[in-house]
Amino acid sequence: MGIAPGSKEEQVALWNGGVGRNWVEAQALIDDIFKPFEDRLAEAAGGAQRVLDVGCGTGAVSLAIARRTGASVTGADISEPMLAHARARAEQAGASVCFIQADAETYAFEPAAFDAIVSRFGVMFFGDSVRAFANLRRAAKPNGALTFAAWRSAEENPFMTTAERAAAPYLPALPPRTPNAPGQFAFADPDRVRGVLEQSGWRAIAIDPIDVPCTMPARDLDFFLTRLGPLGRALPDADEATRTAVMAAVHEAFRPYIEGDAVRFVSACWIAQARA
Ligand SMILES: C[S@@+](CC[C@H](N)C(=O)[O-])C[C@H]1O[C@@H](n2cnc3c(N)ncnc32)[C@H](O)[C@@H]1O
Repeated sequence: MGIAPGSKEEQVALWNGGVGRNWVEAQALIDDIFKPFEDRLAEAAGGAQRVLDVGCGTGAVSLAIARRTGASVTGADISEPMLAHARARAEQAGASVCFIQADAETYAFEPAAFDAIVSRFGVMFFGDSVRAFANLRRAAKPNGALTFAAWRSAEENPFMTTAERAAAPYLPALPPRTPNAPGQFAFADPDRVRGVLEQSGWRAIAIDPIDVPCTMPARDLDFFLTRLGPLGRALPDADEATRTAVMAAVHEAFRPYIEGDAVRFVSACWIAQARA
């Protein structure tokens, strides 16, 4: 039997396969682009002694918190290639961050251990979000603070879907974005996010929109587009002629985002906060 689309097993396979490897390859670029979120979450963890970074990936937020606050930080993720990269970065930086392979939904975290739980775009991929956030709440100390960044809708983030729209005529098998399914835009609906947090026992919930200007060097745009998102997954399987046609269409579509030697776009996100 194959892996069901939209399932937890699919997420485990993606993040431990090509998607995870692409994120490792693009780590430095991704971290530069999304540095404003790293800063925001490191601020949120200020004053905490023990911090859990959920879906920590290649570790930028965990490392920034350890560096800036001196807290004891645990980064948890399902992706072994991304964790291996995070551990290598920690070793290189001389940071004592503990990176563990742990599914946030099921891992037996130490109960009431963390005074802050943070995540940069790492909580939208759960098969059962209520189960995952209930598990995280058990790991939080009483009154412990949860703060995470998640994407608002695809419509509010046209930069993130420009590539797949431009490529669609050439790559008809590109998977459609299914509302609420595990993935980048699973938390687009703030009522759904609030419901998930309430049902999993979090309180003092605040879900605030933030519009974050992001930038990258224009010379890195192709690298970014061919590593991340649906295009990054589909292009390696396309033939040369299709790839050429796709990239021509994509370059045209991204013109509005290019200013001189920089690409500029706005990330339309939520900052969600709650207390255990
Ligand atoms: C979009 S990436 C964000 C990575 C990192 N937080 C960053 O900002 O660079 C999402 C991360 O969530 C992780 N993830 C997905 N499902 C997970 C789960 N059930 N438990 C823990 N991590 C998970 C993925 O492996 C991936 O590293």
